[in-house]
Amino acid sequence: MNTMHSGNLIEPARRPALQAVEVSKAFVSGHQRTQVLDRLSLAIEAAELTLISGPSGCGKSTLLAVLSGLQQVDGGQVRALGSELGQLDLRALERFRLQHTGFVFQGFNLFPALSAFEQVELPLNHMGLTRDEARRRARQSLEEVGLGQRMRLRPSELSGGEKQRVAIARALAKQPELLFADEPTSALDAANGQIIIDLLHRIAHSHGTTVLCVSHDPRLVVHADRVLAMEDGRILSDRRNQAPLSDSRGTPS
Ligand SMILES: Nc1ncnc2c1ncn2[C@@H]1O[C@H](COP(=O)(O)OP(=O)(O)OP(=O)(O)O)[C@@H](O)[C@H]1O
Ligand SMILES: [Mg+2]
Repeated sequence: MNTMHSGNLIEPARRPALQAVEVSKAFVSGHQRTQVLDRLSLAIEAAELTLISGPSGCGKSTLLAVLSGLQQVDGGQVRALGSELGQLDLRALERFRLQHTGFVFQGFNLFPALSAFEQVELPLNHMGLTRDEARRRARQSLEEVGLGQRMRLRPSELSGGEKQRVAIARALAKQPELLFADEPTSALDAANGQIIIDLLHRIAHSHGTTVLCVSHDPRLVVHADRVLAMEDGRILSDRRNQAPLSDSRGTPS
């Protein structure tokens, strides 16, 4: 909806897809209490690739876990797609994650016994899609990540970069509004890392997916639309790249 103002059409302010307001989270083990997130606030815009960079142990994975509803916060609020996650009961949270979020991890998290195609198809069956629709989406997503010819292979028969592309296809096939990636390139060499970050960038722009990636890999910084630097449980800086280097350079094969 546009707003008329002084005769001009003014775009309404976009509502962030994800928002953290003064979020705190601590872990206690024995006598030791670690304050991992310390009244952290941020707003992530839809349909772009946001990178959260920061040193090991600064709380990046914990931040992703609370933003995606996997972990509860001690204080503050998380709003995702208009819902306040703290208000949802466990079942509603589970449904939210199933229907609206996709995850990509450093270690790929693939099932050794399943083919690439089966890895992608499996979660779709839990979403209540018909078998035909699940298979159609699985094929389409694998083609999109350049694995159309390798769908029948198992993880042991795929390279690291290919495995991560299967994991991306698995997340993509759910058609989630929110895609979270935790160090998706750190197990990969530079060339494969590049392919993965290009793919994430392209997914944000061509599907309108909100992609939030955390990494301590400084090579990724130039490829994101926006970079938030995190340290000691807080966001220290927020920088926008005008024209990220990642670009459609064709489907990797
Ligand atoms: N379940 C847990 N129980 C206790 N402490 C935890 C737990 N999860 C994380 N921590 C602690 O919280 C801090 C932040 O961890 P987190 O995994 O979020 O960091 P990170 O920025 O993702 O690090 P890395 O770059 O190494 O992945 C660390 O000190 C870690 O030991
Ligand atoms: Mg981590």
